[in-house]
Amino acid sequence: MEGVMTQPLIRAASKLGLVDRWMTPFWRVTSSPVKKSKLKQWFAPFVDSGLPVTAQLMGEDAEMITRVAEELLKLGASDINLNFGCPSGQVVRHGCGGGMLKRIKDLILLFARVKKSLAGVPVGIKIRSGFDEINLAWLQELSLDDSDKIFFHYRLVKEAYLPFPFKTALRRFAEVRNVIPNSWLIANGDIDTLSKMTDVLKLGFDGIMTGRGWLRNPSLLMQMTGICPAQTDEHFWRKELFLNTLIEAEKDDFFTFSRGNAIELAILIWGAGNPVFQRLIKNDGKVTDDATLLRSMINEFDELLLARK
Ligand SMILES: Cc1cc2nc3c(=O)[nH]c(=O)nc-3n(C[C@H](O)[C@H](O)[C@H](O)COP(=O)(O)O)c2cc1C
Repeated sequence: MEGVMTQPLIRAASKLGLVDRWMTPFWRVTSSPVKKSKLKQWFAPFVDSGLPVTAQLMGEDAEMITRVAEELLKLGASDINLNFGCPSGQVVRHGCGGGMLKRIKDLILLFARVKKSLAGVPVGIKIRSGFDEINLAWLQELSLDDSDKIFFHYRLVKEAYLPFPFKTALRRFAEVRNVIPNSWLIANGDIDTLSKMTDVLKLGFDGIMTGRGWLRNPSLLMQMTGICPAQTDEHFWRKELFLNTLIEAEKDDFFTFSRGNAIELAILIWGAGNPVFQRLIKNDGKVTDDATLLRSMINEFDELLLARK
């Protein structure tokens, strides 16, 4: 997830065994040549985890996408994913991400071109149900290989992150599974409990992808693989993930992790108004700079969480 996936978070989650593979946030491909050193730096924390990494790209220029993809494959990416789902206004205005769902013919052509030039490499896509109305039939026109995966977020692009009852998600999941019964299909959107995950897998999905749901319930994927018992206290893993992210960030002197990153992460893990968040936004005069504040939080952590009760 763009903005949230800081290097310390990736290192912490990988070390804690909370994930078994990564998909990067999107790398925006434009017509300008890419600086290889910048790409390498961006990709390093994922590939250094030792886990398989899907590199996600966003753009509309097949030749440039291919070039960047080739670099990432050299750096160790296991496969490539093209983002056709991002609902951000800025992205959509440029006709990329979710904006491509308004131009299905171009999307299919772009996919076919990238696929052809990356012969033999698995290339997947991340999509939503449609742009402003459900539109899934086109998926049958994609020339997918057996190893190409479709990551399906159930909302429309124009629905952004509107809340829905989970039965809406299940209805749309069932719909897309019917359209492409034989392709690799991964469900995404609001899957944050073992029971939701089980309901989705019962529909015949090949896997689940989770973003915000995983931050709220970091042991979710371990529960799925049976590594961690379902009843494990989710508060424990929230704390572990946040605290270990701070500890990893301290190792590089909070160079890649700011107070703003900590605030964003605390909100996604616990919601706004929690004691960790409160501590991060209040300057009580004891600390002078952000790194000192984050360092002091590592020591105060148990106290902070007790304040929640
Ligand atoms: C801050 C933020 C950044 C995101 N960045 C990406 C991204 O770079 N690529 C992507 O495919 N999805 C991205 N997403 C979408 C998530 O992958 C996912 O589709 C969405 O959050 C719904 O799943 P969830 O309910 O499990 O979070 C992002 C979501 C958020 C909230």
